[in-house]
Amino acid sequence: MTLKTVHSVAELRAVVAGWRARGLRVALVPTMGALHAGHISLTDHVRNHADRVIVSIFVNPTQFGPNEDFGAYPRTLPDDQKMLDAAGVELCFAPSVEEMYPDGFATRVSVDGSFTNVLCGASRPGHFDGVAQIVTKLLLQALPDCAIFGQKDYQQLMVIRRFTTDLNIPVEIIGAPILREDDGLAMSSRNRYLTPEERAIAPTLDRVLGEITKAAARGAEIAPLLAKGREDILNAGFKSIDYLEIRDADTLERVEDRVRKSSRVFVAAHLGKARLIDNHAIDPINITG
Ligand code: PAJ
Repeated sequence: MTLKTVHSVAELRAVVAGWRARGLRVALVPTMGALHAGHISLTDHVRNHADRVIVSIFVNPTQFGPNEDFGAYPRTLPDDQKMLDAAGVELCFAPSVEEMYPDGFATRVSVDGSFTNVLCGASRPGHFDGVAQIVTKLLLQALPDCAIFGQKDYQQLMVIRRFTTDLNIPVEIIGAPILREDDGLAMSSRNRYLTPEERAIAPTLDRVLGEITKAAARGAEIAPLLAKGREDILNAGFKSIDYLEIRDADTLERVEDRVRKSSRVFVAAHLGKARLIDNHAIDPINITG
C-alpha cells in the first residue's frame, strides 16, 4: 500500500511541510469516511489541481444533532484506506475526536444569514456551525492550496465558500458535480441504511427533481410542480419531507413563481432510517420564436 495514514495534526503537518519544501501543490478532500465512488470522484477531479492529495476521514460530532445518526454513522476505515490506495491518494488523515476536540476546546465558527437559516440549516439547527468549525480546523491544519467539496451538499459548499472568504482562509475552494448510481440515486454514505425495498424507492428523488427541473426550466409555474413532486415522493413510500424547494443558485433565496435565472431544486426526505438529500441545477431555457 502506498497510501500513508496519519492520526495526528503534527504528523499531517510534517508530511505537508515535506511536500511544500519540494514545491508541490497540495489538495485536501474532507470526508466523514464510509467512502463511495462519489468521494473518489472528488479525489480524481482534484488531481487536475494538485500534485498531492490528502483525504481526511473524521465523523465530526459537532455537526450532528442530538437525535441524529452520529453513533450509527458507518465507520469503515480499513475499507476506506483500500479505496484511497487504489485511487492513488497519497495521504489519509484520520484523527480521533480527542485530537480534534481536546479537553478545554471552546471555539465556535458560526455562519449567519441566508446560507444557513434555510433548507438543511432550518431542519438541522447547528449543523452548519459544526461543519464550519471542523472544515476551518481541517483547512488550517493541512493548509492545502485547494480543497474540494461535492455539489451533492450544495448548501454546504456555499457555506464553506462564505466563511473561507470571510475569514481570509487562503485556500481555493473547488466544487464538483454529483455522482449518481445507474438508476439516478445520488451516491451517499447514508444509502447504506436503506433496506433493499427502500433502495428501490430511493431513486424517486432524482426522478422527481428531474421532472421539476425540466418544467421549471421552460418557465412553468413552480407551486404546482412542487405540490405534485411532494405527492409523488410521499406516494413512493418516503415517510416525510423536510423540504422541496427551488432557490436561487447564488443566493439561496427562494424562487417564488417562475425560474428566470440559474436556480436549483433541493430536496431532503426521510426513507426508513435514512434522511436523503439531493439537488438539480435549473438553467432557464430562453425560447425565442
Ligand atoms: P461526507 O458526507 O463524507 O462528504 C464528503 C464530501 O464528498 C463532501 O464534499 C460531499 O459533498 C462529497 N460527496 C458526497 N457524496 C457525493 C456524490 N454523490 N457526488 C459528489 N460528491 C459527493 O460532507 C461531509 O462529509 C462533511 O460535512 C464534511 C465536509 C467532511 C465536514 O465534516
